[in-house]
Formats: sequence, C-alpha cells, structure tokens
Amino acid sequence: MRIYKVGGAVRDRLLGRPVTDIDWVVVGATTEDMLAKGFRPVGADFPVFLHPKSGEEYALARTERKSGRGYGGFTFHASPEVTLEEDLIRRDLTINAMAEDDQQNLTDPYHGQRDLEARLLRHVSPAFAEDPLRVLRVARFAARYAALGFTVAPETLDLMRQLSESGELQALTAERIWKEISRALMEDQPQVFIEVLRACGALNVLMPEVDALFGVPQPQAHHPEIDTGAHTLSVLEQAARHKQPLTVRWACLLHDLGKGLTPEEEWPRHIAHEFKGLKLIKAVNERFKAPRDCQELALLVGEYHTHGHRALELKPSTLLELLQSFDVYRRPQRFEEFIAACEMDARGRKGLEERSYPQADYLRGAATAARSVAVQPLLEKGFKGPELGEAIKRERLKALKAYKETASS
Ligand code: CTP
Repeated sequence: MRIYKVGGAVRDRLLGRPVTDIDWVVVGATTEDMLAKGFRPVGADFPVFLHPKSGEEYALARTERKSGRGYGGFTFHASPEVTLEEDLIRRDLTINAMAEDDQQNLTDPYHGQRDLEARLLRHVSPAFAEDPLRVLRVARFAARYAALGFTVAPETLDLMRQLSESGELQALTAERIWKEISRALMEDQPQVFIEVLRACGALNVLMPEVDALFGVPQPQAHHPEIDTGAHTLSVLEQAARHKQPLTVRWACLLHDLGKGLTPEEEWPRHIAHEFKGLKLIKAVNERFKAPRDCQELALLVGEYHTHGHRALELKPSTLLELLQSFDVYRRPQRFEEFIAACEMDARGRKGLEERSYPQADYLRGAATAARSVAVQPLLEKGFKGPELGEAIKRERLKALKAYKETASS
C-alpha cells in the first residue's frame, strides 16, 4: 500500500500557511488491510479510517459516481486498483487535488501548483458537479484566500451558476450548509463569500432575503454607500476586521433584511424595517438550523439596532426596556455582542469606518447602572412576588435617570 498526504494539507504547506489537519489517501489497499493494521472504520460502508494513534483520516483511493440527488445520492468505488490520479480527479479544486508522499514528492496531474501561482480557484473536472456543496466551498475558499489575491476561475463560476440554477442546492442538508456558512463567516474576508455566492446565483437560492438587499437604496445622508447590499457586505467586513465572534457576524449579515421588503415608492426610507425584518431573520435562522445563540442575537440585533445607534437620545424608560429585552442582568455577554454588532453596522458605511461610536460606552454604562441596583434592601423592605419585580424596575429606572443626567452633564 502507498500512502499520500492530500488536499488542504498539501495546499496550505505550498501556500506557507499553517496546516491544521491532515488528510491521507491510501492506494493499493483493501478494507481488510486497513483493519489488520489497526485503523478504525469511520462508518460501515464508507472507505475512510482513523489512524489508531494520530486519529487522522485515511481514505482508500476511490472514484465516486452520482446515482441520485443530494449528498446521499453517491455510489463509491474503492478498490486497490483505483489509482492516485483517479482519486484526485474526483476532487473539487485543482489546488485541493495534489498529493505528496513522505519525501514531499508532489503528484499534481491537474496543475494545482500552476493555479496556486496564478491565484485561481479552478475546478478539476466536470465531476465537480457531483457535490453541490462545492459551490459553497469555493465561495468559502475565495473568502479565505482573497487577501492572497485568489479569485474564482470564470469557467468554475459558470459551473457554479449551472449548479445553482439546477435546483441541486436545495437538496443539501441544513447541517452541511450551516457548516460552510459558519466557517466562511469566520474567515478574514467573509464578505467575499457572500459576493461569490451572489455572482453565481447561489445567494438567490440559499438566502434570497440577503440577495434582495442589492439594488435597494438608503438615504445618502446616513449611508454614503447608498446600496443596502453593499452596506451589508461592509458591515460584515468590519466585523471580521474587528475579530468579532460568529454570533455577531451572523447578526451583521441579517440585521437589515427588513429593508428588502420596503415598497419602492417609500425608498430610500425604510420605516419600521427593524420590526418588518424579524420574520425574514427567523426564516433564514430556521432554514439553516443556526445555533440558538446565533439565532437569538440576529433577532435582537434586527429588532434593536436603531435603538443602539440612538442610545444617547433614548429616554431612561426606553433604555430600561432595551436592557430588559436583552435580559442584561443574566446575559451580559449577549448585550456586549449586541453593542458590537451595532458598532459594526455604524462602521460599515462608506467613509465612516473610523468614526468613533460613543454609543457603545454609553450602553455599557447604562447596563452597569441598571445592574447596580441591589435586590437585598428591597427584600428587607418586605417586597415579594410581582411587587418585588415592580420595585426593582422602579429602582433601575431611577438609576438610569441618574446615569443619563451625569453622562450628559
Ligand atoms: N473534497 C472535495 N469535495 C468536497 C469535500 C472535500 O473534493 N465536497 C476533497 C478536497 O480534495 C479537499 C479534501 O477532500 O482538499 C479534504 O477536505 P476538507 O478537509 O473538507 O477540506 P480541506 O481542503 O482540507 O480544507 P479546509 O482547510 O477548509 O479544511
């Protein structure tokens, strides 16, 4: 049997990037050979094994043929006769279809190295179409390597467009899609992921609510970039630049969905877009089964981001309602993430990226003031049940009034 390092590990070594996990391909072996060497099978009828010590993945060289729709619709053919070249040709991109032996000798039949130098994400063969998830993978790689100057080859973008139009993307499971989206959002230039999906028509299939934002104008006085789609991309770009977590990036992507619902005759104003967008945010959240913290923050940011921007003008009672909506007393971190998303929203405007955002500290101060109200003295005064709740609220309102006065003096 011959063993080769393949895929991302080879690619990233050649790019001089850190290699995190290594995939191996095994040529000339049977399942029985692998079991005899102590490898553990990953699944009953999948020719992938885990190394007994390193836990790394070793896959028997295989060819794949599509036998139906979606991810389940595959037949595998793994046998000792399958060559390395046959295994590599079924892979997604040329830069992912290189193999390396233990002497670092490169097998590169589909010119991955040439495409690495040309900074091109190019599919290996028509077999690309066998897994529609690859549309999202390519967009994710584009986001990751954008800073290195990588772009998607025009013929690959065409193929991605055909796949998007064919209805194949609908057959992907929510889990597989979310895994790609969440990884892509955490890349250095997540906005490129959305741009590439849009360029090949996949955004319109996966998130028509986000796609609809392109071409929708906003008032130039607040939004010099005017276009709501362009603004959304900039907000995402700022979120990555400021190293925000996934929850914040997801909320940034979805915060303005309501603007896509505004009737054209009302443009460029978007009255009550915060509230109108909630049902769209909910739909996108559920479509991909986003984790609960992502779902929650996206809905809260959607509903309250304008409150964030107007923080300094809010009445103490409105401030209190805002803090209550976030349950800031038990969930301080979530409120911090809300503040961050509002700040990214403000910075995601053309020419205003470096402008300070005093609302952030003001909101933090308000949360501290409301949290500083002690419950014990109220208990000692004999308040109980709903009356205790009311008393706490009154004290918090008092604290917020005092806070607002000091902050504005
Ligand atoms: N692969 C593929 N099509 C897929 C998934 C994977 O062709 N839908 C192949 C590619 O050759 C890829 C390899 O399997 O390089 C390993 O896949 P994976 O670990 O998912 O990706 P990496 O390329 O290692 O990239 P990452 O750095 O994102 O993990």
